[in-house]
Amino acid sequence: MRFAITGADGMLGRALVARLADHDVVALTEPAFSLEDQEVVNGAIAGAQPHWVVHTAAMTDVDGCELNPRKAYSVNALGTRHVAAACRACGAGLLYISTDFVYGRRAVRTPIEAWEHGDPLSVYGLSKWGGERYVEALAPRFMIARTAWLYGEGGRHFVGTVLRKAKEGSLLHVVNDQTGNPTYARDVAEAVSRLLEREAPGWYHLVNTGETTWYGFARAALEMSGLDPEQVQPCSSAELGRPAPRPAYSSLSTFTYREMVGVDFRPWREALKDYLSGSGNPGSSRGAD
Ligand SMILES: NC(=O)c1ccc[n+]([C@@H]2O[C@H](COP(=O)([O-])OP(=O)(O)OC[C@H]3O[C@@H](n4cnc5c(N)ncnc54)[C@H](OP(=O)(O)O)[C@@H]3O)[C@@H](O)[C@H]2O)c1
Repeated sequence: MRFAITGADGMLGRALVARLADHDVVALTEPAFSLEDQEVVNGAIAGAQPHWVVHTAAMTDVDGCELNPRKAYSVNALGTRHVAAACRACGAGLLYISTDFVYGRRAVRTPIEAWEHGDPLSVYGLSKWGGERYVEALAPRFMIARTAWLYGEGGRHFVGTVLRKAKEGSLLHVVNDQTGNPTYARDVAEAVSRLLEREAPGWYHLVNTGETTWYGFARAALEMSGLDPEQVQPCSSAELGRPAPRPAYSSLSTFTYREMVGVDFRPWREALKDYLSGSGNPGSSRGAD
């Protein structure tokens, strides 16, 4: 099978390229591949003639999106439109990586199912939700796979920042009023490869299981690294005052993935421990496979 991966040099893109190394993989990366240029997108995908496009590329700076909505909508929503239209033109399937930030207003605090309607709070969330709408409308075969709170090899992410600041001796203030699923990018790459094998269209949530707050996540990372968790102090989102609003609760249910693929994600603490120990062990799971 031939796969084209947009954003192949991003954090998740790299994990995917590594996981799919046994296949024929075409990496679509900036500056040659720009989501804002419809002709470029169409030419790149038509030229690659993939069975599936895995679309990970996005403007991922959540506060940057809030401050520059035109750019966010142009890259994340319209850019995804161009990818979906190109897939339609050459008959390729499209697996679109989306985000828990398409949710945000739900009052009930039970994990969100993959077919639930989005209700984004931020420009970033709305731009990714717009991308989802285009995928559903235009792609001949699609999978929408939302993930959340990613960390992994070779990317800039929360775990890396927390550990660096703690080692410098800084006292960290981390929000304790946002709940979600810390997720290892390698485990997402493993799950994507399983979905591509099964070619089962639909909506999926690809996250490590269990939920916590960013504060709980930071403390766990410090404890597992032999650092003092008391270096982290809880604070509220309002105290931090960042430009983009974030969901108070965006914990995702892996139900559709578990049922369609027959294996579940492992708990977030197990995955984090694995990442911090450097052993990787992608995709170890509790399910039958
Ligand atoms: N990180 C998270 O916590 C998280 C959570 C939920 C969902 N997601 C989703 O997961 C996917 C991957 O995230 P990630 O953390 O791996 O992101 P990342 O490391 O920021 O990588 C994003 C990639 O997209 C590329 N890109 C940005 N703008 C582009 C444009 N206009 N044209 C072409 N390529 C462009 C970037 O290239 P340059 O670096 O050259 O700009 C980069 O390779 C995204 O779709 C994101 O929405 C991420």
